[in-house]
Amino acid sequence: MIDHNTVQKILDAAHIEEVVGDFVSLRRRGVNLIGLCPFHNEKTPSFTVSPAKNICHCFGCGKGGGPVNFIMEHESLSYVDALRYLAKKYGIEIVEKEETAEEIARRSSRENMFALNAFALKYFSDTLHNTEEGKSIGIGYFRERGFRDDTIKKFQLGYCPDRFEAVSVEALKEGFSRQTLIDTGLCTENQRGGLTDRFRGRVIFPVHTVSGQVVAFGGRVLKKTENTAKYVNSPESEIYHKSNELYGLYFAKNAIQRSDVCYLVEGYTDVISMHQAGVENVVASSGTSLTTGQIRLIHRFTSNIVVLYDGDAAGIKASIRGIDMLLEEGMNVEVVLLPDGEDPDSFSRSQDSTQFIDYINRHKTNFILFKTQLLLGEAGNDPIKKAALIGDIVESISKIQDTIKQAIYIKDCARQFDIREEVLIKEVAKRQKNHAANAPQATAVQENAAVEHETTGGAKARPYTFKEERQLLRYLLRHSNDIIEINSNGERIPITVIDYIAGSIEADGIPFQYPLHIQILDEALSCTTDLRTYFLNHPDVEVQNYVFSLVEDRYEKSAMYQRQESDAEKRERLSSEVQTVMFEYRFAIIKRRCSVVKEQIEAATAVDDNEKVDELLTELQTLNQQRRQISAILGGRPGLR
Ligand code: CTP
Ligand code: MN
Repeated sequence: MIDHNTVQKILDAAHIEEVVGDFVSLRRRGVNLIGLCPFHNEKTPSFTVSPAKNICHCFGCGKGGGPVNFIMEHESLSYVDALRYLAKKYGIEIVEKEETAEEIARRSSRENMFALNAFALKYFSDTLHNTEEGKSIGIGYFRERGFRDDTIKKFQLGYCPDRFEAVSVEALKEGFSRQTLIDTGLCTENQRGGLTDRFRGRVIFPVHTVSGQVVAFGGRVLKKTENTAKYVNSPESEIYHKSNELYGLYFAKNAIQRSDVCYLVEGYTDVISMHQAGVENVVASSGTSLTTGQIRLIHRFTSNIVVLYDGDAAGIKASIRGIDMLLEEGMNVEVVLLPDGEDPDSFSRSQDSTQFIDYINRHKTNFILFKTQLLLGEAGNDPIKKAALIGDIVESISKIQDTIKQAIYIKDCARQFDIREEVLIKEVAKRQKNHAANAPQATAVQENAAVEHETTGGAKARPYTFKEERQLLRYLLRHSNDIIEINSNGERIPITVIDYIAGSIEADGIPFQYPLHIQILDEALSCTTDLRTYFLNHPDVEVQNYVFSLVEDRYEKSAMYQRQESDAEKRERLSSEVQTVMFEYRFAIIKRRCSVVKEQIEAATAVDDNEKVDELLTELQTLNQQRRQISAILGGRPGLR
């Protein structure tokens, strides 16, 4: 616990504009500051920061609060961790203190739930290993399934006695409350107001979070004859969100990172048997279709997924839809069909790890091709079915972000369907435009790119700096040899626009990303005649059109100013605008780098690589510092952002 005085010190020190300013580029508006809301997507700023009240608030989505709330929300931290974050930011030393009895009692229900689950985990495991019932029934069952003792220990499997009140009685004795037993779902309330053990008479599979905390249990019946569900699982709770957990990830994450691929199976027992066979980079979706949250969990460790299907799975077709989502998240997806009648559990018992992995590598098929083959087989020669199927496949392809991969799939599918590539390309482009129009989550850059799609006619993937690159090129082409003045150590230095832009990109090592932009910049730099004349007569029509759309008046910031200006005023304005766009470009790059570093921190934290975490935190600090500096510069130029 953090000492009360320390908390007060932190609250006094934390200025909302500084705390928010680390993440949001703010500019002044009257007594307040405004910026783009970090909690939802918007193009015009509605996120308001009031230094006087020391709060922030978004008029778009309603989020906000004081410095601590902001950090809790933005960095997904608990209250105490948010305080620690702020203490670090302001160099305040944290004084810890002992918890009082009263505070223990008040400790959050979350903590109680975690504690109870830890207790139940031990209870189920003790029951399995140390009681007659557990040994004969539970261990007996696992043995029958071929689970070794070390496997049972590793996955912390257990057994719940076949009594209505088993874990409940013991937990109450330990001081856990009725409410916590109900909240975690270990017990249900029966009609007489008593507690009933949810998992009675079942073997127990604990579900761990990525960092190893037990948030839920799965209980399997032993006797097939019973008329009850094969598995009973903990319900959703304050600590268990099924859609954000993957069974086995805690045990698999190191192997996933090492092998740079994650195998996806359906069940608890598939994961466990594969581990036992020596294949550890495997997680289970637990019988439901994947969620975006689960995909992102995997994505922290690898971009490569291989889905293992039972040889005779009727469910393949149903689950195939879920896979489009993997593509959308930028994962490379491959599929393996196991031999007839085998599931990963049974198959891994007849193979050692080398054989198993070898089988996977020999049989894995790229997902799109797999789907095409599967559906083609079904459609046969029926032209209507075939048309529907093409639509289905095109939909999948349109979800792929990587344009090169997309082109390869289009080629392959065109061959399989025996239709012209151009037809598929058109279809894919059409659907992508629809996605962009329908996506509420699209970033400003993506939206901008979607709009500009019309004018540019290009269909290449847009890098995150697309908008800024485009803006820089605009100035470069329109004002190439105009002189601007830049500030350098208090001196005003005259420089041409083209030299300033090309020089900054070169000096800072921040090259453009978008191929067409790279080409235009390259050619502009080696061009010896008038740039506009050169580009507007370019042999490549795509380049011609693109440059035309760039040099049109309507996009340039100056165009907004109608009144007559003196030459000096014009130069002043141009200097300021070009430098602003250059800063916006740097800002976009840094922002992107920040999010990459944050992801890496999460991944490194998950595998306890403290050295890496420290290194990354230092980088993040530097980046945030740069962001702040640029925000300050950009924010100080009213009307220009
Ligand atoms: N599942 C569930 N409830 C059920 C059936 C299945 O929650 N009534 C979930 C479990 O997470 C299970 C997964 O779906 O692990 C896959 O189901 P299945 O293949 O039937 O289970 P297995 O884990 O393979 O179990 P077993 O091999 O013991 O049949
Ligand atoms: Mn099974």
